[in-house]
Amino acid sequence: MSTTPLPEEVRRRATSEGAALYTAPNGRSYVVVCWQGAMRVFVNCCPHRQLPLDGGGRLYFTADGSLLCCANHGAKFHPLTGLCVAGPCAGKGLQRVPALEGSAMPLP
Ligand code: FES
Repeated sequence: MSTTPLPEEVRRRATSEGAALYTAPNGRSYVVVCWQGAMRVFVNCCPHRQLPLDGGGRLYFTADGSLLCCANHGAKFHPLTGLCVAGPCAGKGLQRVPALEGSAMPLP
């Protein structure tokens, strides 16, 4: 697991767009979510088929912006807990990475 601080640019994108992808120096891909003033970092791996959540480098939310969606088969995840609340992997969750969150406070 990487303990490299999140780059400022990733924090800014997550803050302004709600979520951002981050590829760590070790090559692992993470999803950085900023929702209702809190920031979370998850491994970019859907528990349904262990595929990345993004579609072509883009992350998706439901139309009302309340849930993070997997681009593959539409699983919907709570943006702070990472729990899948609807879709093919309901009840499972994204793997949270608190070690990266320590440096991931939202920008004022
Ligand atoms: S891989 Fe995410 S819903 Fe199927």
